[in-house]
This record gives sequence, structure tokens and C-alpha cells, in this order.
Amino acid sequence: MRSTSSAQKTAAVSRKKRNLRFVRSRNAQLRRSANVVCYWKDNQLIYHNYLSGVRIAASPLCTLILDFFGRWRRPAELIKSLSRFSASSVLREVGRLCRLSLLEERGKEHPRSGSMRAWAAWSPEASFFHFATKDVKYRLESEMSRHELKQEIRVHPQPAFFKRYRDAADMPLPPVPQARESEFVRTVYERRTWREFSRGQLPLEKLAQLLGMTWGVTGYVEVDLLGRVPLKTSPSGGARHPGEVYVAALKVQGLREGLYHYCGDVHRLERIREAPMRRRTQAYLSGQWWYADAAAVFLMTAVFPRNSWKYGYSRAYRSVLLDAGHLCQTFCLTATWLGLAPFCTMALSDSLIESDLGIDGITESVLYAAGVGLRARGGGEEFCPGGREMKPVKCSTGANDR
Ligand SMILES: Cc1cc2nc3c(=O)[nH]c(=O)nc-3n(C[C@H](O)[C@H](O)[C@H](O)COP(=O)(O)O)c2cc1C
Repeated sequence: MRSTSSAQKTAAVSRKKRNLRFVRSRNAQLRRSANVVCYWKDNQLIYHNYLSGVRIAASPLCTLILDFFGRWRRPAELIKSLSRFSASSVLREVGRLCRLSLLEERGKEHPRSGSMRAWAAWSPEASFFHFATKDVKYRLESEMSRHELKQEIRVHPQPAFFKRYRDAADMPLPPVPQARESEFVRTVYERRTWREFSRGQLPLEKLAQLLGMTWGVTGYVEVDLLGRVPLKTSPSGGARHPGEVYVAALKVQGLREGLYHYCGDVHRLERIREAPMRRRTQAYLSGQWWYADAAAVFLMTAVFPRNSWKYGYSRAYRSVLLDAGHLCQTFCLTATWLGLAPFCTMALSDSLIESDLGIDGITESVLYAAGVGLRARGGGEEFCPGGREMKPVKCSTGANDR
């Protein structure tokens, strides 16, 4: 048996040979990945490829290398320009940066880097935020012990919910409308996040109403140069309507369990896959078991080029997120009006959802989810649709008096 040090020597030699082969290879051209940003965190300079998720602490050598490969260049040129470093240390670092996806080799680019062109106009601000915050592992609140929560509140008391100007003139306002005054007012006050449901099936008509009233096209307008653009019940920045919606049908009468895409222009569903959805949906919602009895979950995605094509500045990313919020509120109000139990969540397993929907997660990505179930029968005054940990309290504006 070979000794450890001789095995280590052999490994080092073969690594060196690999590095040399890599540099001498006629076609080896390298470039810094377009998805790398750097920033200071905890007093360390970090290079972060937000598409692959890799972060490394920067060193002077890796900084020089990443700077050098701003365009396609050969490692041999780098060795010449960094003559104060040994060729083997430079090559070792180049090999490491390639393996870590901070450098890419021509012809062997990240399979998704082509689609990233759709984000070029919004990079790095919006793309960094979007991709670096995907697939976050959530710690369900219930897993945080009361003790931990108490500690946290003691160390960091929560900020005040309301703001006052101490010296400002105080002007009382006329009263807010009462729920009994109209169906609209009642619906607005009645909307709640539900986390308990009865086990019944959602009628197909109600699913269709929810889809049509939230994501259906309600009309078109003719816009100079752009032609006909769609309108929906929610506003959309520039009427670009980047949102698409997919239904995870769990318990819908007359609809097989599975995943569907809604075509808002013609009010139809397209079946993407037929499959048991209960456990899958729980995984989509990062394990939130309290939504397991929902009848349908609506996965909201955005097709970014619809907006970036027109608005070539990163602030436009905000409008995509805001649009999703508008759609979700319309959904929740519609569900409330239909006597259903709506909810919304942004704790999602993005990549799992995107893979099941067959979308690339770059030009189209999931943002938000809403869902609906049949209302659980309330257990009297104390019943709170939001879950057992919440207790209803009267509102001093009188808005929720029934
Ligand atoms: C952007 C957003 C994300 C949310 N994410 C979750 C979530 O992940 N899980 C959940 O149970 N509720 C979620 N909610 C629901 C809120 O917890 C709920 O709106 C809040 O407790 C207030 O209750 P209400 O909706 O009944 O007024 C989310 C709401 C919003 C607007």
C-alpha cells in the first residue's frame, strides 16, 4: 500500500497536469460569469454567483483573475500578465473559480446563462435580488419554541404598528361604512387568511369564477404602436400583465387532481399533468401543513420579458411584484365574496414548482401563491379563521362591526 504522503504527491502531480492540460488546450477560453456580484458582508469581501448560489470569500489573487476575465481570454495570457505569481498557483485558482462557477469556459457555459439575457437590462440590482432570494429554506413559525420567541422579543422588541406626529393638529374623520351597508363593504371587511378548511370539494363553477374574475381578460385597449393590450380586474404597470397562473387542483368537482395552466384570454384550462397533488402541494408551500385541506392552490408566475422588453431599468422589477400583490388581493376578495376560505403565501419551493410547471425559472419564475378551501365551520365567537394561535379582538374604528 502506498503511503499517504506519496498518494498526496501523486494527486498533486495529476492535479497540476490537469491544470496544465486545461491551459494548453487550444480552445480553452474563459470569462467571468455575468451573474457574479461582490459585496462586503461581516467584514469580508464576497464574490457571489447569484444564479448558481455559490459565494466565496475574495482573495487578492481571485480578484485579479476575475477582473482579467472580463471578456473571453486564455489562461496562458493570464499567466503572462500575473508574472509575480507562480504559474501553478494561478492555475490552481483558475481551476477553482471554474469549478465554483465564477469563471465559465467557452462552450461549457451554465446551461441557463443564455436565458439570463432576459435580465440584462435589470442587472445586477433586480436579478441579484430575485435569484439570490429563491428557494429560501423556511423555518415554520410553529417550530420556533415559545421560549425562543420570548427571548427574541426581549432582545429585539417589535417596532410599533402605528405612527403618530406628536405636534400635528388632530382631525377626526367621518365614520367608516358598516359591513351591513353593502355587499362590497361586507366582502372587504370579511376577507381573512384562512388556515382551517372543511374537507368538501370546490365546485368547478367557483374555481372558474375565481380564475375569470382574477386572471381573466376583461377587455382590451388599443395602444399607439403596441396594438391591442389586455386589461384585467387588477391594475398592471404599463398594462404589461406579466402574470400567469397555474392551478394545483386538489379537490375540485369535475376536475382531475393535477396541475393546470389558465388561459386568461379564452377562459380555459390546459392540463399539464394529472397526479396526486396533496403532498406535492405541501412541498410547494414549503411544508405548510395547515394548507393541506385546501381545495385548490393558484401558483402565480411572472414572464419577465413582457416588462423588461418595454422598461429597460431595474425599478420595473418592482412593478412585477406589485402586480402579483394586486392579483392576490383581487383573488382573496373574490373568494370571500364567494363564501370561500382564501389564503396567500410566499413561502414557496420555487425550483420544485418551476420544474413541475416546465418553466425555466429565469424568463418565467414563480413569485407568489394563493389558495382556497371550503370554510371550516366556525366554533362560535372565538373562532379565528387564521388559526388557533390567533384570537379575534374588536377594532376601535368600528370597521369590523357586523
Ligand atoms: C406577501 C404575503 C406573504 C404571506 N405569507 C404567508 C405564509 O407564508 N404563510 C401563512 O400562513 N400566511 C402568509 N401570509 C398571510 C399573513 O400571515 C396574513 O395576511 C396576516 O396574518 C394577516 O391576517 P389576515 O390576512 O387575516 O388579515 C402572507 C401574506 C402576505 C401578504
